Amino acid sequence: ADLRREGLYVVTTRAARFFQDSMWTSQEGQTIGLGYYKERGFRDEVLKKFELGYSPDSWDAFITKALQEGFNEKILEDAGLAIRNDKGKLYDRFRGRVLFPIHSFTGRIIGFGGRTLKTDKKVPKYVNSPESEIYHKSDVLYGLYFAKKAIRDADNCYLVEGYADVLSVHQAGIENVVASSGTSLTTAQIRLIGRFTKNITILYDGDPAGIKASLRGLDMILEEGLNVRVVLFPDGHDPDSYVRKLGSSEFKNYIEKNQKDFILYKTTILLKYAGTDPIKKAGVIREVVESIAKIPDSIKASVFIRECSTLMQIDERALITELNKLKQGKY
Ligand code: CTP
Ligand code: MN
Ligand code: MN
Ligand code: MN
Ligand code: MN
Repeated sequence: ADLRREGLYVVTTRAARFFQDSMWTSQEGQTIGLGYYKERGFRDEVLKKFELGYSPDSWDAFITKALQEGFNEKILEDAGLAIRNDKGKLYDRFRGRVLFPIHSFTGRIIGFGGRTLKTDKKVPKYVNSPESEIYHKSDVLYGLYFAKKAIRDADNCYLVEGYADVLSVHQAGIENVVASSGTSLTTAQIRLIGRFTKNITILYDGDPAGIKASLRGLDMILEEGLNVRVVLFPDGHDPDSYVRKLGSSEFKNYIEKNQKDFILYKTTILLKYAGTDPIKKAGVIREVVESIAKIPDSIKASVFIRECSTLMQIDERALITELNKLKQGKY
């Protein structure tokens, strides 16, 4: 089994090199692939560091090369690089896309995310490697390998949604950044961050999906005993688009000024919808206490209860009663 895993690493590594060569040396790759990244403002340095590439717009450019070199069909399929059609014919999974290799936190390539260059809404924006013996999506954080030292040094980890967000934020000089690759953060991902720091700052997209995911994510982070802060971006922006709009130093200022602890963040978000309706306001308070109830450390929880009491101008004892009810319901 270990040998099979080794075989998979060999082929994903080979593929990453193929996709890089295709981007940097072929005419098609330079014009289309590299051109695309450049247009988005990614510099050579970051493209090389993250080993980004381009898969030619062909049904079999990679598999032909790989088979010639002696890789067998099965390993190409197992690694998720090739797909077999109904007629049993093998073809490339990644065709005419810019590719983001996904590294394990020890730096080995375990899969790929491939972004379309088309604006056609019918084409899926991302095609990702399927699960394999070396790639378990829910256990992986995109960019962690390149971020872990900075996470330790800063004792904080910025959590974004997407590949491009990691690259742009990293390029802006904030290297302690990783992506959950989509909006469904997992417990395994949080624990992985927990090996490097106990502090997470969520920088999700400023759209309804991102906001919803941030509320879910912050509860999960609290449940794991980590500290969480959140930055809200203007609607329609994600960290990548916003850093490009503001430039690095303004972006850093924005994050500094707008990061909120989870109570303030949740209150702000929920009150936006609740308005001044007192019944809804009570609902907001209850929801905030629900988050506090997830914190395993009771001393920490009581500090947040006090903050909540001050912020919402609610008697602290009432909040504690509510907290205890929730806790009893839990156990
Ligand atoms: N994602 C995915 N499959 C999709 C859509 C999204 O795997 N069909 C994941 C990708 O990891 C993506 C992340 O979710 O990076 C965030 O999605 P989204 O915000 O839609 O994409 P962006 O990362 O902002 O992509 P871009 O800026 O290139 O449009
Ligand atoms: Mn496993
Ligand atoms: Mn989004
Ligand atoms: Mn984006
Ligand atoms: Mn996005």
